[in-house]
Amino acid sequence: MSGLWHRTPAKLRLSETYIDIWRTSLNLTRHEIDACLALLSPDEIARANRFKVKRKYREYIISRGLLRRILGLTLGTDPADFEFEYSEHDKPLLNLIHKGAPVTFNVSHSHEQTLIAVTLGHALGIDIEQVRQDVQFRQLAKRFFSAQEARELETYTEAGIPRAFFACWTRKEAFVKALGDGIAFGLNEFSVSVNPFDDNVALTTHWDPEEAGNWSLLNIHTDADYIAALAVAGQGFKIRYWEF
Ligand SMILES: CC(C)(COP(=O)(O)OP(=O)(O)OC[C@H]1O[C@@H](n2cnc3c(N)ncnc32)[C@H](O)[C@@H]1OP(=O)(O)O)[C@@H](O)C(=O)NCCC(=O)NCCS
Repeated sequence: MSGLWHRTPAKLRLSETYIDIWRTSLNLTRHEIDACLALLSPDEIARANRFKVKRKYREYIISRGLLRRILGLTLGTDPADFEFEYSEHDKPLLNLIHKGAPVTFNVSHSHEQTLIAVTLGHALGIDIEQVRQDVQFRQLAKRFFSAQEARELETYTEAGIPRAFFACWTRKEAFVKALGDGIAFGLNEFSVSVNPFDDNVALTTHWDPEEAGNWSLLNIHTDADYIAALAVAGQGFKIRYWEF
């Protein structure tokens, strides 16, 4: 997969043509974590300090510090200067227009990896999950997936079900995160295809069949232990992959 992911360039500018996907390991040294912490605002530091679990504290500081550095690099601004706002359902946003289009981004972390998607002018959501085996796949599918998705998952063997389950999960999460409504959004209101090898991921929006046409749902290929998906408003853009 290393051919897909490129080293961080010295200079990169955001554009409506490209969705930039950044990946980083959460396994950083104390010194590197302190450098991330130094970029955070007082309200972000207060939020970090509310995490009781050390891993969650680290995850938040690293991914927020990285987000600031990526925005700083691509917008030519000091990373500490950004002021994030939050939607009603806590989606972090920037009230910032660049080259005539809003700056949009979304973050996801799982186990040892963080993914950050950044672009101009496209609403988006990203989700990464470590593929675990210790999950009650069928029970969770009945609870969270649409009837169509749960039926499709039933066709998988025991060996095939973990990747199919997490493909469906990340596609759903990415779409929900793009919409920004979080858990309040009805997960039964739309269906995605479950096949992890399917590069043309299908999206069906049950509340309005036309709505699906406004979106692109894509697999993001990362390490074999993980599955990731990206939902983007619109079509015709290209994806660039960066290792931070
Ligand atoms: C936040 C939420 C949207 C995603 O959480 P998650 O998968 O546990 O966590 P991820 O690592 O993928 O994403 C967390 C990041 O998403 C961003 N985020 C927070 N709320 C968000 C929202 N409403 N919409 C989009 N992004 C959001 C934040 O940047 C957050 O990272 P940060 O806290 O470091 O800033 C989750 O609370 C949620 O509501 N999920 C959808 C409901 C569900 O149960 N889905 C089941 C799958 S089928």
